[in-house]
Amino acid sequence: MKPTRIYPHRTNARRDRRAGLGASLLTAVAICLALASQAAEESSPARARLSGEQAFAACAACHSLADGAVHKVGPNLWGVYGRAAAQAEDYAYSPALAAAGLTWTRENLFAWIAGSEAMVPGSWMLFQNNLQPDEVMSLIDYLAAHGGTGGQ
Ligand code: HEC
Repeated sequence: MKPTRIYPHRTNARRDRRAGLGASLLTAVAICLALASQAAEESSPARARLSGEQAFAACAACHSLADGAVHKVGPNLWGVYGRAAAQAEDYAYSPALAAAGLTWTRENLFAWIAGSEAMVPGSWMLFQNNLQPDEVMSLIDYLAAHGGTGGQ
């Protein structure tokens, strides 16, 4: 004679819990895979390093760089290197950047390009890039060569 199930709801509850565990394991695996492929992408030499000029393509949609050029969504960056932040004429900066009291040294430009929103919360440069650190260095040299001052 088969044993009678006295608490069928308990059995179900256990099965449900197992299903839940399976789903969260799958999620964990998916996250690990995503992290692994991201790491592989970062460490693989698959794409050639960009020059400063090439890296500026990531900025050119929103920034001009020639002396006297018109502003786009972002300010013209002629002479920005070594200058105090938020000084381009006739450009309406965010109150956050205008009040930040920053000077565009190499270090500050590096931090800004890595994450402007984190560096100056409330600033308006909503933009992310996947430039490598040495590409950002070349990009900063390229900016410095366009009207830059200060020699930092
Ligand atoms: C999606 C548009 C966009 C892109 C792409 C972009 N920027 Fe900007 N950038 C802005 C805006 C908008 C501001 C003004 C931010 C504010 O007022 O808070 C700004 C401000 C700046 C400033 C401060 C200028 C000053 O006069 O103080 C620098 C430096 C700068 N961007 C560099 C870059 C660089 C370098 C890149 C490429 C790696 C880049 N930006 C890409 C929109 C953009």
